[in-house]
Amino acid sequence: MIHSILKKETLSKEDLIYLLSCSKDEEKILFDYSEKIRINTIGRNVYLRGLIEFSNICTKDCLYCGIRKSNTTIERFQVLKEEIVEAAEFAYKKGYGSIVLQSGERCDELFIDTIDDILKKIKKISNNELGITLSLGEQNKETYQRWFNSGAHRYLLRIEAADENLYNKIHPNDENHLYSRRYECLKYLQDIGYQTGTGVMIGHPFQTIEDLADNLLFFKKFDIDMVGMGPYVEHQDTPLYKYKDTLISQKERLNLSLRMIACLRILMPDINIAAATALQAIDPLGREKAVQIGANVIMPNITPTYKRKLYNLYENKPGGDEGKEEIHQLLIERLKQIDYCVPNDLWGDSKHYFERIKKGD
Ligand code: 5AD
Repeated sequence: MIHSILKKETLSKEDLIYLLSCSKDEEKILFDYSEKIRINTIGRNVYLRGLIEFSNICTKDCLYCGIRKSNTTIERFQVLKEEIVEAAEFAYKKGYGSIVLQSGERCDELFIDTIDDILKKIKKISNNELGITLSLGEQNKETYQRWFNSGAHRYLLRIEAADENLYNKIHPNDENHLYSRRYECLKYLQDIGYQTGTGVMIGHPFQTIEDLADNLLFFKKFDIDMVGMGPYVEHQDTPLYKYKDTLISQKERLNLSLRMIACLRILMPDINIAAATALQAIDPLGREKAVQIGANVIMPNITPTYKRKLYNLYENKPGGDEGKEEIHQLLIERLKQIDYCVPNDLWGDSKHYFERIKKGD
């Protein structure tokens, strides 16, 4: 059965459901196939992005997230502008081709101006060479355009749940958390010319295998260039925590995440797929496992050390200092051992983006 599905030109919702719930024996065939597709389409490169999580101050109240506005149990922090630029400089010198700037969501003027300034500074200190991905949530179109003009060229904005009803179950139902707004923002990003990334959490309360298949089809329909998705990990200071006993085990969530990545690689062979940090929260080698079945991007955390523990989106979030030389080298070594390579100084853009742009001309 699995062989006949994998031979198909495109995968239907039913096919995806089959693959996501296949037997352990069939899983091996699925993983071998997705790895083969990846190697044939985009090769064995793994691109590193230095991730800088510079603030946990957030105006949103997402029901799953540990840094949600209503969580008064955490200390809020903001890394200084100079320190962010320093971290970027460190990444540049280390040969990371690019960085990701991520934080809680804010859209006040001070925040927008500060980001703009940081982008210009990073571009300057790196001779325009360092690639910059932003992951700063929903903004208006002018802001996205301004940041694009100042040097950002990729943007990650997870849809979190492609189905609007499900989206509403994991977000507060108010004007500040509209599915339609999230969708519109993704469209803005694409229109402006960003390489556009999205993603979902896997195994959160209320989500079914059907929802997961729909998420994959959403990425395809939206013609997305990059995807980051990983297991949902409960956080005790969030409203969704009360559903923890309804969840599949963390190990199963990890396995389901790997299957999602494998299916997505088959569905969209030339996009960038990140091995999310949450994979590592469940299994220390979770990211490497994802690389072996189709992921081609890893985002080591290079946030200045003293703040890192406070960016606590979920429990057991890895706080390892991947900016440290030994840890950086270890990751590269482990990837080499499984026959993947980490090129220096490349942006590692999504091949799909260039195909999409060509099609649009
Ligand atoms: N488990 C896993 N991922 C989470 N995120 C937020 N909270 C959790 C959680 N409890 C993810 C969201 C968000 C990204 C920055 O972190 O998908 O988009």
